[in-house]
Amino acid sequence: MKISIPEPVKEVANGLGKAGYEAYLVGGCLRDLLIGREPKDWDIATDARPEDIQEIFPENVYENEFGTVGVKTGSEEPKLKIVEVTTFRIEGSYTDKRHPDTVKFATKVEEDLARRDFTVNAMALTLKGGEAGELVDPYKGKEDLKSRTIRTVGEPGERFGEDALRLMRAVRLAVELGFDIEMATRRAIEKESGLLEAISKERIRDEFVKTIMAPEAAKGVLLLEELNLLIHVLPELREGIGVSQNLHHIYSVFEHSVKALEYAAKNDFPLEVRLAALLHDAGKPRTKGGEGPNATFYNHEVVGARLAAAALDRLRFPKNTIEKVVHLIRYHMFYYNVGEVSEAGVRRFLVRVGPEYVDDLLKLREADRIGSGVPKAFPYKLRHLLYMIDKVKRDPISPKMLVLKGNDIMEIAKIPPGPKVGWILTVLLEEVITEPKWNEKGRLAERVKELAAMPDEKLRELAEKAEFTKEEFEAGLEEDIKKKFKVQ
Ligand code: CTP
Repeated sequence: MKISIPEPVKEVANGLGKAGYEAYLVGGCLRDLLIGREPKDWDIATDARPEDIQEIFPENVYENEFGTVGVKTGSEEPKLKIVEVTTFRIEGSYTDKRHPDTVKFATKVEEDLARRDFTVNAMALTLKGGEAGELVDPYKGKEDLKSRTIRTVGEPGERFGEDALRLMRAVRLAVELGFDIEMATRRAIEKESGLLEAISKERIRDEFVKTIMAPEAAKGVLLLEELNLLIHVLPELREGIGVSQNLHHIYSVFEHSVKALEYAAKNDFPLEVRLAALLHDAGKPRTKGGEGPNATFYNHEVVGARLAAAALDRLRFPKNTIEKVVHLIRYHMFYYNVGEVSEAGVRRFLVRVGPEYVDDLLKLREADRIGSGVPKAFPYKLRHLLYMIDKVKRDPISPKMLVLKGNDIMEIAKIPPGPKVGWILTVLLEEVITEPKWNEKGRLAERVKELAAMPDEKLRELAEKAEFTKEEFEAGLEEDIKKKFKVQ
C-alpha cells in the first residue's frame, strides 16, 4: 500500500533528518494509515531530545513533561497545524496506576515501541527524506491489523498494570476499529478490571464517550459488561440486567437500553441523545411494581433522571451535558395522539419540554420505540405532533412572548415591583397559552386591572393554580400513557 505523507509532516521529518536525527511515524496515526483510515493527528517519534526539537523548530508549543513538542507547521489544515514530535522513551514504574513515576528517554525506536499498549499501536514507519520507508514491527502489529485483533504488547497483565486506562482503551479501539479482542488480552481485562478504580473519572469518561460515539456503540457497552468493566463505569445500567418488563416489551431493561443506543448510533444521533437512550429507563428496576405482563414502573422517568444526574456527575460530564440528558430522560414519556391533544395542549407541552429540546426528545422517542422491538421509528402520530408544533410555534409560551412586560403591568396596575407582578404575569401567560389571540395589549391591560384589584391571597391562589395546570397536564399525560401502553 502506498502511504502518502502530507507535506507539513514531511517537512518536520526532513528538519529532524537534516539535523542528524531519526524520524518515525508512530502510534494511532500509523495504525490508522495502514488500514486506510484518516489519522486524527500526526505523531512523529525521534531520538532528538525535547530541547533539540525546540531548537530545530523554534515555532513550537512545549507543555507536557513527557517529552512531546508540538511543532507549528504554518499549515491551515486543522489536523496539520501542529505535528507532535516525541522523544523515544521508556517509561518507569507506575506506582499510582495512572502516570509513570519517571520518564526515561531512549535512543532506539524499538525501546519506545516496547512500552506501548497494543501491537497495532506499536509499529513505527521510517520517514527518510520525508518519504515513507521501512516498517519497524517487532510485535507483528501488521498481522494483527490484518486479522483485526487487539492484543497487548507482551504480557497483558503487565501492560494493564502499567496504565489501567488501557482496559477501557482495548474496548474503545475494538469498537472504533471493528476488531476483536484476543483471548489472553480479554482474560487479563476481566481479571484486572478492578484496577480501573484507580483511574481518574475524566479519563474513563473520555474513553467511554469515544466508545458510545463509535458506530458499534452497542457492542461496546456489551463488551464493557462482558469484561467486568461496566460496573466501574456505569453501575446504574447493570441494575437493568435480567429485569423483565411487561406485555409491551420483549427485552429486559438492560437489553432494551442497549438496543436504544444501537439505534441512536446507527442514526448518528448526538452524544446527549445516546446517553439518554442508554439511561432513559435506568429508573425502572427501582420502581418496578408486580411481575409478569402487568408489571408497572410508576415514576421511573423521575427516578431515572435522578440516577442519570448522579452517574454523569460522577463521571465529570460538563454541566450542560448533564442538564440536557436529565431533561430528555425526565420527559421521555410524553404522550401525543392525533385528535386527543389540543393546540393548547401542544403549547403546554412546549412550555414543559422547552422548544429547544423537541428535536432530541423525538430522536430519543425513535430510539426508545425501535429499542422495544417496534418496527416503525416515526409513526404518523409523531409526524402529526411535529406538524402541530410548527402550527403553534409562533404562539406565546413564555412570559417574554407576552405583549405586556413586567414594567407595563406595574404602570397599568400602579403597583411597585414585587411578587404581585409575577403572579399577574403567570396568570396572563396561562390564559394566553389557552387562547393565544388574547395576547393583545388592550385585552391584557383590562385583565391586568381586574387581576390587580383582587385581594392578594386570591391572586396568589390563581397564579398557583396556573402553575398547577401545567403539572396537571403532565400528570394527565402520564395517566394516558399508563392506560395506553401499560408501561408504568
Ligand atoms: N499509548 C499507550 N498506553 C496508553 C495510551 C497511549 O501505550 N495508555 C500509546 C499507544 O501506542 C498509542 C499512542 O500512545 O497509539 C498514542 O496514544 P493516543 O494519542 O491516545 O492515540 P490512540 O489512542 O492510539 O489513537 P487515537 O488517535 O485514535 O485516539
